[in-house]
Amino acid sequence: MGSAAAMARTAPQRALIFLGPPGAGKGTQARLIAERYGVPHLSTGDMFRDHVRRDTELGRRARPIMERGELVPDEIVLGMVEERIARPDCRMGFVLDGFPRTLAQAEALDRLLEAHGFGRPVVLHLVADEALLLRRLAGRRTCKLCGAVYNIYDRPPQVPGRCDLDGGELVERPDDREEVVRQRLASYHRQTRPLVDYYRARGVLVDVDGTADIEAVSRQVVALVERAAAS
Ligand code: AP5
Ligand code: MG
Repeated sequence: MGSAAAMARTAPQRALIFLGPPGAGKGTQARLIAERYGVPHLSTGDMFRDHVRRDTELGRRARPIMERGELVPDEIVLGMVEERIARPDCRMGFVLDGFPRTLAQAEALDRLLEAHGFGRPVVLHLVADEALLLRRLAGRRTCKLCGAVYNIYDRPPQVPGRCDLDGGELVERPDDREEVVRQRLASYHRQTRPLVDYYRARGVLVDVDGTADIEAVSRQVVALVERAAAS
């Protein structure tokens, strides 16, 4: 997007991490801040969905796990992230969305950041109540062609079922069925929520009110990142 590139600010040379439950807005906010700073948006969920689409060996392993709403084993995730962070486009910083999700992943990320010469990460913890998460996930629709994300309640496309950008078909994510969402929330509370304490204890975590509208959340995120990057 030309206008976004023109607006790109000096990259914070940090790893920005979006932490929060399914539907909290990690992908939405990660995409916006990555565009703002002109750095890569690394979503492990998107990477896995891409492998599933291409029917790679990794995709065949991940697919049934994702369909159950469980977490893919750490060693698979870590190999994928390690390779991605080592690429040259991550040198000025990057935005992590959906990673890390277990203590082992967080500890491995600490080692990776150190190895690549990055300082402390900035962890943006998106907070939202469960009723809101369920509504957002039930309403989410994604463009089959470009991956743009809509919401039939809060961010509807101009033409129902069609992407505003390329007219592509808007589809539901297979893991957004209610019973899978319940399992994803359970996995979050059991395996990922402890990372809030892990990062808070290190003084690198900031809480973000994820219940506000997309633009208001984004303004909070920008202010927090700029403050953290200056410190
Ligand atoms: P992943 O793709 O990461 O899914 P998730 O964590 O469950 O989160 P979501 O993508 O559902 O929600 P989001 O927070 O990104 O919300 P979004 O911005 O889209 O992971 C999927 C699976 O992959 C996992 O279950 C696991 O199996 C595997 N996996 C991935 N990473 C892994 C890892 N590290 N380790 C192990 N396994 C891993 O917003 C949701 C909706 O709300 C959208 O419609 C959006 O338009 C709308 N919306 C967003 N913000 C707002 C707002 N402020 N106001 C109104 N509407 C909003
Ligand atoms: Mg997401």
